[in-house]
Amino acid sequence: MDNPFAASSSWYVNPEWSANASSEPGGSAIANYSTAVWMDRIAAITEGVGLRGHLDQALANGNDLFTFVVYNLPNRDCAALASNGELLISENGFERYKLEYIDPIVEILSDPAYADINIVAVIEVDSLPNLVTNLSTPECQEANGPGGYRDGIRYALNQLSTLPNVYSYVDIGNSGWLGWSSNFGPAVSLIGDLIETTDKGWNSVAGFVSNTSNYAPVEEPFLPDPTLTVGGQPIRSADFYEWNDYLEELDFVQDWRQAMIDRGAPETIGMLIDTGRNGWGGPDRPTGVSASLDVNTYVNESRIDRREHRGNWCNQPGGVGFRPQANPHPGVDAYVWVKPPGESDGIADPNFEQDPNDPNKKHDPMCDPNASNRYDGSVSTGALPNAPHAGGWFPEGFQVLLENAYPPL
Ligand code: GLC
Repeated sequence: MDNPFAASSSWYVNPEWSANASSEPGGSAIANYSTAVWMDRIAAITEGVGLRGHLDQALANGNDLFTFVVYNLPNRDCAALASNGELLISENGFERYKLEYIDPIVEILSDPAYADINIVAVIEVDSLPNLVTNLSTPECQEANGPGGYRDGIRYALNQLSTLPNVYSYVDIGNSGWLGWSSNFGPAVSLIGDLIETTDKGWNSVAGFVSNTSNYAPVEEPFLPDPTLTVGGQPIRSADFYEWNDYLEELDFVQDWRQAMIDRGAPETIGMLIDTGRNGWGGPDRPTGVSASLDVNTYVNESRIDRREHRGNWCNQPGGVGFRPQANPHPGVDAYVWVKPPGESDGIADPNFEQDPNDPNKKHDPMCDPNASNRYDGSVSTGALPNAPHAGGWFPEGFQVLLENAYPPL
């Protein structure tokens, strides 16, 4: 089918996330929304609720849509430290990814008991975008070669595409990452080329997912036209946008979809946008267009994205965004909450203790509220204090997301 989200009326709610959300003040307002289940290490397949447990629960609930994240490539999170994973290319990671991770997942999903559930697989967040922009990092350079991200994703897509009820959406970063034309074109080529080398070619994917775990708004309501000039300068030239062609996710994903169709993808491909944390409501949300004639002031007074720097990605004070829903715009299959609101992006404390389940997760300076942004030393990371390791429950962060929700809760 074209759009599994539109065809499904009952979307799975992760009971573990839901329990965390509803235990927080005000959290019950969102605790019954669907969020993705992250298979973020081999043990996640079987430990705790486990993949089979989630699917059995979905069956018991009568759900017809289940969304999970495939997130365990060797050299995972190669350009950062917060979500480094358990597999390394240099330690037989590709073989282990296939045999100990993808194969067991596919084995469970292929159980005929689950044949009537539409299963959405979000494929490997941040991975291919890192191959477009971060090859100066040795771990990414290695991931660009044999047994790296391409081989891993090709294998995952090949195996998942043997199951008719599985819909794979490949991660494409976000507009604030691949939006420059110098990144956009190469990313379309790299990701399109990879899909075309899978066993089923374009039939191995349902589309692409953008903004996963990020904070870029769906639209900038007061900055609808990036080419508008203020004081003689195009607004995309403002410090905050650094000449990026895209100020928002909606234009970005619609152009991405068209670029893929132009190179041979079928019209049925659709886009997903992670709207779990990109609402940007609350008291600091602008209510109109700035009257300034200075391009930077104009942008800063008009943008709803309140980050200090658009590259700030760790534990930002965003707000819960549009609720999960199918077909919000042409070409967009759904708004989804891939990153479960309230789960940390990475540990804030540089003197952290190791996570025994995830010993490779480290402190990334972008998660330190007292540090400068890695790409621009003149601004801070904007990260919230006290956050636990990536994926850990972060009550203070959850409260901020509720307070800044837009549309308001
Ligand atoms: C991060 C973590 C991962 C977690 C996910 C969702 O990327 O590395 O362990 O499951 O976020 O919160």
